[in-house]
Amino acid sequence: MLSAQDNRLLTETAAGTLMGALFRRFWMPVLLSSDLPTPGCPPRAISLLGEDHVAFRDASGAVGVLAPRCAHRGAHLADGRCTPAGLRCAFHGWTYDRAGQCVAAPSLPQELATDALMPQLDLGACPAIDSGGLIWAYLGPPQFCPPLPRLEITTLPPEQLALSRVSLSCNWAQCCESALDAVLAGADEPPAMLTMLPHEAGLVIGAARPEAAGLVQWRIGQFLMPNHVLSPDAGPGETQHGQCWVPLDAGSCIAYRYSWNPDRALTEAERAAHEAPDQPAHAPRIALSQPPIIDRSQEHLGPSDAGIERVRRLLLDAARAMSRNQMHVSAREPEAFRVRAGRVIAPQEHGLAEVMRASFGDIYGRARAGAAQDGDG
Ligand code: FES
Repeated sequence: MLSAQDNRLLTETAAGTLMGALFRRFWMPVLLSSDLPTPGCPPRAISLLGEDHVAFRDASGAVGVLAPRCAHRGAHLADGRCTPAGLRCAFHGWTYDRAGQCVAAPSLPQELATDALMPQLDLGACPAIDSGGLIWAYLGPPQFCPPLPRLEITTLPPEQLALSRVSLSCNWAQCCESALDAVLAGADEPPAMLTMLPHEAGLVIGAARPEAAGLVQWRIGQFLMPNHVLSPDAGPGETQHGQCWVPLDAGSCIAYRYSWNPDRALTEAERAAHEAPDQPAHAPRIALSQPPIIDRSQEHLGPSDAGIERVRRLLLDAARAMSRNQMHVSAREPEAFRVRAGRVIAPQEHGLAEVMRASFGDIYGRARAGAAQDGDG
């Protein structure tokens, strides 16, 4: 359980909150790349961490994320269109480049659209990147902008990826916790072993249950700061799955779901299965059953919830450290996000570190070629 104070700290990510400050030090997915399919395509309104923005792909193919209101009279730029010069407001044609700078104000007389005025017509823009089938934005202080986390999806060609999303009327944290539940899914009894291995980007969570004489099945997931979960559903050599639970506001979030096969292109059937349209059926069932923000002071957690408790503590500690200007190490370690998860049959006497080393070549599941074989975390 959490105190009411910690529950607010965990769940609130608007500007001015500690968790919001933590989230603003990480890149967040804001759209699928396919939402802006071609240079100059229609712009999209987006919400993120309680803020509204507009995203567009300019004539060069690069993506921009701007404050959404036109500097002229406040029209929403998602109603505009992309031109070779930039994003043009639908009403009087004021046009903005990817930096948010107004580059044309045709409704102003020439003597007013001076070199002195035009630089002041600056909406402000967030750094934005199209990578791994997702469009990412960084909302934090520019001087702390980290490299994009090197999730394995950002290293592979599009034919090896499948992306989709689910919209939920539910706080991001309990959705993320529901995904962590998947490590334990499919059983009414607690796992015989539940082990966690912390690393720079988050932690490995492994749950083992008896499989056959002398064998156990490990379901091994990953939590990656501050809101990614890699699922334990892939067997060795199979397609991997993960989700990023992005807060829109306190009572809603979007799960960006990513699947990837490190070794080959996905088949049409796999792509159809993993690119299913936004449907509640793909949401975690418990998240749909809970109120939008669950009162965690009323919970009764057991040993099988230890992974959820550990992740909460990691997030709360990292958020509180923000008030001392101490950033979690994960924001400086993009390669630490390049990890895998999965399910593995192993001898019952083997611990999680040994199983990880035997199955992934690394105790933390790091996919980078030549990753060091560290000792137990
Ligand atoms: S409101 Fe945008 S150009 Fe007038």
